[in-house]
Amino acid sequence: MVMTESKEFNPYILGICCNWCTYAGADQAGTSRMQRPANLRIMRVMCGGRIEPQFVLDALMNGADGVLVSHCHPGDCHYVEGNLKTIRKIPMLHLYLKQFGINPKRVKYSFVSASEGAELTEIVEEFVHELKELGPNPIKKEGK
Ligand code: FES
Repeated sequence: MVMTESKEFNPYILGICCNWCTYAGADQAGTSRMQRPANLRIMRVMCGGRIEPQFVLDALMNGADGVLVSHCHPGDCHYVEGNLKTIRKIPMLHLYLKQFGINPKRVKYSFVSASEGAELTEIVEEFVHELKELGPNPIKKEGK
């Protein structure tokens, strides 16, 4: 029997997720045995307010094909307004992406609560599909 290697592009997504909502939502999806694409690796931060544009740029420069920024819904932040601070950083991040020639579609934003594991699964599936259409990240360093 001859084994053939799949040449299909399988994007690597870094999820930068708030501990209290999206990370807990991913956990809830796992404990509920929901199937989720294996493309997502999660970097947990304590609050969406901790997410800096630099984190996203570093991820894209160092091997990610896409970055999912996800945290609590507005009004649900455990640190009152950390997620609102993140929302205010998005225009700055878009400026940086433009300067580096990175397609902004490689970054996705979402609000996912601890009980929305199914929604997170849908978001990841949709993002995988979108990244497959974009193809591999052209700026990532060789060998990453
Ligand atoms: Fe989740 Fe602040 S604790 S965004």
